Amino acid sequence: MSEKVLIVDDNPGIRDTLSDLIQMLGYRAFTAEDGLSAISKFDSEPYLCVFTDIMMPNMTGLELIKEIKARDVSTPVVVITGYASIEIAIDAMKYGASDFISKPFRVKQIEYILNKVKRERALLEENKKFSDEIAWHRVVDDLAGQLEKRVQEITTLQAISEKVTTLKGIKDLVSAMIDVATDIVDSGRISFFPLDRHTQMFIDPEGGDGLALAHDLLMEGVVRNKVLSTLGDTDYESTFPLIIEGQIFGALKMITSKRIDSDEEGKIVYLLQRVAERMENVVLYEGLYENILSTLNTMAKILDARDPHTSQHSTRVTSLSIGIAKAFNTSEDDIDILRIAASLHDIGKVGIPDKILLKPGKLTSDEIEIIKRHPDIGADILSSIVPMKKAVKIIRHHHEHYNGKGYPKGLKGDNIPLLSRMIAVADAFDAMTSDRPYRKALSFDAAIHEVEKGKGSQFDPEIADIFIHKVARPKEW
Ligand SMILES: [Fe+2]
Repeated sequence: MSEKVLIVDDNPGIRDTLSDLIQMLGYRAFTAEDGLSAISKFDSEPYLCVFTDIMMPNMTGLELIKEIKARDVSTPVVVITGYASIEIAIDAMKYGASDFISKPFRVKQIEYILNKVKRERALLEENKKFSDEIAWHRVVDDLAGQLEKRVQEITTLQAISEKVTTLKGIKDLVSAMIDVATDIVDSGRISFFPLDRHTQMFIDPEGGDGLALAHDLLMEGVVRNKVLSTLGDTDYESTFPLIIEGQIFGALKMITSKRIDSDEEGKIVYLLQRVAERMENVVLYEGLYENILSTLNTMAKILDARDPHTSQHSTRVTSLSIGIAKAFNTSEDDIDILRIAASLHDIGKVGIPDKILLKPGKLTSDEIEIIKRHPDIGADILSSIVPMKKAVKIIRHHHEHYNGKGYPKGLKGDNIPLLSRMIAVADAFDAMTSDRPYRKALSFDAAIHEVEKGKGSQFDPEIADIFIHKVARPKEW
């Protein structure tokens, strides 16, 4: 039987994502939407470890850690946290949390944490078997040693996270990464090589020779070589990839006098993951992103202006979608993605000829097929722009129907991205309440009735209900 992991979070999206990842790693994942239900699950059967959110209704994550530790001190608790709440995560460690993870969740990071947790538990359980006093003393000594190591490890991880999350620009981040990596291996010559996408070579910022992109790096692995030092001794060269959103961004090359051990390697990998998350944020929220977003928004406005009947449509769909997302307790990060995806959801219509898009009469079936290409066209436009990556899938699937009868892929139910299901409701409602060349707008009540009728067929029933009761008619709730 595979081991069980309990995930506690009030956000269903986070619960699902984490369960999927944990199950992919061969564990059985169980979920609870708050601390109280987590405790009742925990009381009825043991778990290998518990992942918990901090901000939850009824009982906070910190209170939950206390309750779990009071029941079984050996059950490790891992805290789920956003970028902004690293301080809370550190507080949680004081309450006995073993580690923390933040979004975007990565399989490697979860695997690393679960392996560590298993090693620690195995040690504790083995220790339970000893009964005589001498063995007990040995165990205590052993545990004390392990604990000390663990405290050191936690401190390093905390230091890495703190250092990485408080920094601003890419340059600071790279120099902090080199500092922390130097600390981890005690000493060594460490440099960071960004990847030149055109030549597929890593560029030496000091002007020296570049590095070729090795197969192992592409596979997210480490490249190891022995090299001759200037003194004639053997040095060890290890190159780690820095991967952002599945793409190689650069390489960290470390030349050390001794071979990097697995503990150090784990820390370097963790450091690179944190740096990648932070860089993604930097790229997303600074400079480049703003430019691209304003260009795309201009495109969306041109599109709206092209068809007077749909002017302001994207703006209204965006605010309705965000209303749904907030009522759904969607994370801030996802709301940021939704804002982009909703405001650009019909951007692909730039690729549809005027004579079809603006045709006043009924469309032929061939013309309808051409219009149906707009989600794919829009997704393809955005897919080449790295900071827009997360919006691509959402845009591609905004015309899918819950029953699988939508387009372009005919995805069904939960296979349709959650944010696309939100846009689908907002988009349909706004279209129904706007005048079109071939029909008058429906009244508010009639449109609500249509959404109600489409529950389970066109729309995700839960999202449709939230839209009707919390967004369209919030006062009645
Ligand atoms: Fe559309």
